[in-house]
Amino acid sequence: MVKKSSKKSHFNSPMRFSHPLLPDLRKVIERFSPSWKVGMVTKGGITQEYEKKMSAYLKVRHALSVSSCTTGLVLALRALNLKGDCLVPSFTFTSTVHALIWNQLNPVFVDCHPSRFTVRAQDLSRAFTAKTSAVLVPYIFGNPPPFGEIQEFCRRKKVPLIVDAAHAFGSMVYGKKPGSFGSVEVFSTSATKLLCTGEGGIITTYDSELKETLLLLREYGHNSQYESKNLGLNGRITEFQAALGIEELSLLEEHAEKRNALAKLYQKHLAHLPVSFQEIEEGCRSSYKDFAVVLQKEEWGNNRDRLRMELERSGIPTRRYFFPPLHRQKFFGMNRGGGKRSDKLPNTEKISENILCLPMHYHLRVEEIEKVAEAMTRIFNNIRKYKRNFNEIFA
Ligand SMILES: Cc1ncc(COP(=O)(O)O)c(C=O)c1O
Repeated sequence: MVKKSSKKSHFNSPMRFSHPLLPDLRKVIERFSPSWKVGMVTKGGITQEYEKKMSAYLKVRHALSVSSCTTGLVLALRALNLKGDCLVPSFTFTSTVHALIWNQLNPVFVDCHPSRFTVRAQDLSRAFTAKTSAVLVPYIFGNPPPFGEIQEFCRRKKVPLIVDAAHAFGSMVYGKKPGSFGSVEVFSTSATKLLCTGEGGIITTYDSELKETLLLLREYGHNSQYESKNLGLNGRITEFQAALGIEELSLLEEHAEKRNALAKLYQKHLAHLPVSFQEIEEGCRSSYKDFAVVLQKEEWGNNRDRLRMELERSGIPTRRYFFPPLHRQKFFGMNRGGGKRSDKLPNTEKISENILCLPMHYHLRVEEIEKVAEAMTRIFNNIRKYKRNFNEIFA
């Protein structure tokens, strides 16, 4: 249940698209102070404790902290030592695919489910060739991909499954926490995520050999004698981030429940408009890292960007996640063999042309959701009136 707020003054502050739920600062400082006092601001006991608590929470064998999800993906792909093509959706954030290119892997873009926005086995199957060496699938706005069929596909094709779990903190997958469905999974803990350490990420794996390689790669790729063994990075987090992460972990469940309640409220208030909502994978819970609406083109026409601009004018920030889709971006085309861009990904194109993500965060208030719904209704009615007049004039 989300109650109406009684705090009038806060209502006048500008609406935020995203806003982290942060713990009591005193608790973070208390947790951080032993490391501070002995001058261990990195590579200390709090980071170890954070990783231990994280692996217990997610029920995974290994959980390693990293400086970002992007870094974690780059290191995970490096650790797997892959070559050739990797199947990846076009409907995702840029860094999913940047991590492939950093590893000289060739992204082969695949389509996604029309209403869940996640990759299906049938999308992978269409693009699979003898050159395919891996599959990289993301959660989309917290909605898990259909892991049952994807795991089965990867097993049959004998290729590893890598999961971009950037949006996965707060999600549930067939009653389980995320983190144990791929050979390796990488979470983000940046400021827009449900578990926030400012910047940061978590890599999970059940493979102990892979974990050892990841530890080496996170530490410049050299051993304790400063002898380079592999191409690494500095992928560490600080002790302060680890202290913040531990405190964040205790807020995560409440945070996810609140976002799910807010998503329901949005759905109720927008039900009269010709928009569709993201369908969540059966038996799963989304983190609602983002709340998306897809405008029905027959009703709205090509007015997604006009809606966005007018909402902005009414003080309502939105985002076009993910637009333009990656297979339509020149940079990725150029990385796919001389600018070849013949891919036809109809679901991806339709979603990304008509999608809009609305403000979503723990602090979002009922009044703000009502304001979004009122503004969208007003803008839609204007568009409809204009369309009707236009049709009458040119009838
Ligand atoms: C799907 C996806 N993958 C990867 C990332 C990168 O995460 P980070 O900012 O922690 O590097 C993001 C960022 O939001 C994302 O949305």
